[in-house]
Amino acid sequence: MVTAVAYRLATQHAERQRVLDTLRLSREQLLEVKRRLTEEMARGLSKQTHDQTSVKMLPTYVRSTPDGTVEQGDFLALDLGGSSFRVLLVRLKNEKKQKVDMHQKIYSIDQDTLQGTGEELFNYIVYCIADFLDYRGMSGASLPLGFTFSFPCDQTKLEEGILLKWTKGFKASGCEGKDVVKLLKEAVQRKQDFDTDIMAVISDTVGTMMTCGFDDRHCEIGLIVGTGTNACYMEQMRNLQLMDGDEGQMCVNTEWGAFGDDGALEDLRTDIDREIDAGSLNPGKQLFEKMISGLYMGELVRLILVKMARKQLLFQGQTTPQLLTSGCFSTNYIYAIESDKDEEGLASAEKALRSLGLDPSAEDCAATRRICQIVSTRAAHLCASTLAAVMRQIRDNKAAEKLRITIGVDGSVYKGHPEFSRKLNKMVRRLVPDCDVRFLQSQHGSGKGAAMVTAVAYRLATQHAERQRVLDTLRLSREQLLEVKRRLTEEMARGLSKQTHDQTSVKMLPTYVRSTPDGTVEQGDFLALDLGGSSFRVLLVRLKNEKKQKVDMHQKIYSIDQDTLQGTGEELFNHIVYCIADFLDYRGMSGASLPLGFTFSFPCDQTKLNEGILLKWTKGFKASGCEGKDVVKLLKEAVQRKQKFDLSFVAVVNDTVGTMMTCAYQDPKCELGLIVAGTGTNACYMEEMHNIETVEGNEGRMCVNVEWGAFGENGELDDFCTEFDYAVDEASNYPGKQRRYEKMISGMYLGEIVRHVLMDFTTKGLLFRGKLSERLKTRGIFETKFLSQIESDRLAMRQVRSILQHLGLTGSTCDDSVLVKEVCSVVGRRAAQLCGAGLAALVDKIRQNRNLNQMSITVGVDGTLYKTHPHFSRIMQETLQDLAPQCEVTFLKSEDGSGKGAALITAVACRLKSEQSL
Ligand code: BG6
Ligand code: BG6
Ligand code: GLC
Ligand code: GLC
Repeated sequence: MVTAVAYRLATQHAERQRVLDTLRLSREQLLEVKRRLTEEMARGLSKQTHDQTSVKMLPTYVRSTPDGTVEQGDFLALDLGGSSFRVLLVRLKNEKKQKVDMHQKIYSIDQDTLQGTGEELFNYIVYCIADFLDYRGMSGASLPLGFTFSFPCDQTKLEEGILLKWTKGFKASGCEGKDVVKLLKEAVQRKQDFDTDIMAVISDTVGTMMTCGFDDRHCEIGLIVGTGTNACYMEQMRNLQLMDGDEGQMCVNTEWGAFGDDGALEDLRTDIDREIDAGSLNPGKQLFEKMISGLYMGELVRLILVKMARKQLLFQGQTTPQLLTSGCFSTNYIYAIESDKDEEGLASAEKALRSLGLDPSAEDCAATRRICQIVSTRAAHLCASTLAAVMRQIRDNKAAEKLRITIGVDGSVYKGHPEFSRKLNKMVRRLVPDCDVRFLQSQHGSGKGAAMVTAVAYRLATQHAERQRVLDTLRLSREQLLEVKRRLTEEMARGLSKQTHDQTSVKMLPTYVRSTPDGTVEQGDFLALDLGGSSFRVLLVRLKNEKKQKVDMHQKIYSIDQDTLQGTGEELFNHIVYCIADFLDYRGMSGASLPLGFTFSFPCDQTKLNEGILLKWTKGFKASGCEGKDVVKLLKEAVQRKQKFDLSFVAVVNDTVGTMMTCAYQDPKCELGLIVAGTGTNACYMEEMHNIETVEGNEGRMCVNVEWGAFGENGELDDFCTEFDYAVDEASNYPGKQRRYEKMISGMYLGEIVRHVLMDFTTKGLLFRGKLSERLKTRGIFETKFLSQIESDRLAMRQVRSILQHLGLTGSTCDDSVLVKEVCSVVGRRAAQLCGAGLAALVDKIRQNRNLNQMSITVGVDGTLYKTHPHFSRIMQETLQDLAPQCEVTFLKSEDGSGKGAALITAVACRLKSEQSL
């Protein structure tokens, strides 16, 4: 008899074990789960597979964990989606370090509201906020709000969240596919009790990570095991293929609750799991969550109890109506039953079973306790596997041998279950042995984290608005650009007119170049000098007549030191002559006597080609005793002093003219020369003689050197200028000169404008963490090449940052780099647009001179800024096209500098001279 009973019990026990065995997972199986989630995560991050995957890996627009910046202010937080709905007031104070005061009130949401219409749900939420404000004596207050909304949301920014689907116990209609921020705003408007700025919508995982990250800077994972389960972590932007940009990090909400929804876990799911899914609010969805989280754990146990009772393995085969009612076995029972004190646990089991109308034996109670243990262990172990996958991803991202990481965690199961956290911790350590992991339980829910995110967003939004306000002063409207064109047209007319020429800023200097190359083939050896650009060159240009014109060029670049540039004129010209002598030596032509084309890139009054009275130095030149003198004479005097060689003829050519001629040699339609350089900007064009009142004669054309760099010197552009333009002018070599147009366009000044804007932002605490470095105070650090590099689309932000570091601006963050790039872009765009507006004035003038309705023309162009800047030419051309639609303009980059053009001009002049003397 005893044997028979013992046998029956043993068989029942074995049979129960068999049922429970299906819920036990081996280490291999857990590693396999980890592997599969790793795969799913990769699919979720990838652009191609994102749509098909069940693990959505949603970008959260939270870009960093708390970084020690102290925030301040009062914030509201809503916490919806966990076991309780809360409204919170979070006070962030700056008292030595960050201090946080929190006040909260929990509100219940009844089943009808959870599963009614969306409007009802959001009305209720707003009602609760109003009640909370009342209760805190703050009725009608308008505070920024952070919304912890614990459901999967598609975000394109922090303050927007399109609900993808309800999960857990929520099912309010008309919300899926909608922006929950908008739904909340609409409800606030309906109620009209208070106003609020909804700054952020975040997942509870993110709120938890941020709450914990506040206390532990290694916290880069947020984990929830509560009503539902989910995790978020800090991912590298470069892995977020759905997002633009590859610099820095962003928190990703994995939404791992949906893991398995595509069948990935079928071999591990049991009949019980299928049954629970079938009876849920969302069959087929959140399959992983249903094996783990609090909403389902009690139900899993109940279904096992029913199954065993039906198999005569428990309760002597008895069931009760309560046992058969879904939801009757609360997850809280499990917490009590699994108490680490056996007796207490068994007593709790008996109590729970009796509350279901059962009359359990000691064996039934022990078996129930065992079932609870198996179910919760499976949950903890599955959770460990998925956590291991996330940790591995972070470790791989950091390429760290041993990862040190903290996991911020919250949720009723983790907190309430006596064994869950220990089992989870233990299995995580077994699955990822090479990680130094710490679990940090959130003591403040996700509200604190939500408030932190909101505070940062609020501060950033305020700062963004302030920065945009400043940058807006550097943005020009189409009307303003048209006005620039109009005013330049007016100044050009005044420059050409005899009466007004002296008062105008735009000098319209005659160049005595009467035509562009007309196909006549020239011959001979010519020297050329190129002074005034970024490098000083001496050239030998050989013009040959071989069927058509052939040009051979040899050049040598010489440096001119600062002392010479700003010393006496005699020193400067001695140096130039020394360089020519050296060059002739180097070419084996010592003692030669050649004609020379002198590209002299400064404004000169000319009455003939071989004379140029320097009106004023511009750019970085300042040699004394030159202004008002003929530079040909200064050069020849220096040649005589040296007595090493002779110059038979010297033509003075502005760089714009040289460039136009160089390009016209290639394209006869080139009748305009443009320089957009590191130091200056200017243009020349072929004007009708009868319009040039300052020169005798009405026939034909002459090239006019506009000298537009000085446009604005009489205040013509003051209303478009910013405080930065004034500051740059005042600190320049020639305050008040070349003021406005050149100082708004050429590279050196753009760098200075950028630097002044950055200094302003830094002083206002909007950049470089408010630290104004000595380096940033240094004039000239932003050379043209850096502007061009920073704006290059091919550069990742990381590289921009390294440029800043190279410039000595160390300690800049990724956001700083983004901002510096934006400043460069705004300043660069304005320059390109202004230049486009100027060109529009020029081409329309030429078109009108010729009485043409439509005209096509080529512009020969040179200069470091134009050639190296990634966007300048495009923006300039777009503006030009917009402002001068009747002209079809082609741009031809000069590849040979202006030396070739200067030599051609000299050759023609020498030929004409010798023809005349015949
Ligand atoms: C809380 C968070 O602490 O944990 C909630 O503030 C979150 O946002 C919750 O949803 C998860 O736990 P549970 O058990 O309430 O679902
Ligand atoms: C060169 C011309 O190609 O371009 C120079 O030969 C001119 O005369 C120069 O001044 C302008 O560009 P940058 O940027 O080199 O001064
Ligand atoms: C569900 C939700 C998810 C949330 C989790 C924990 O899985 O879909 O967004 O984070 O529950 O509350
Ligand atoms: C300055 C000079 C001008 C020159 C330009 C480009 O504006 O005054 O003559 O063409 O720089 O180098």
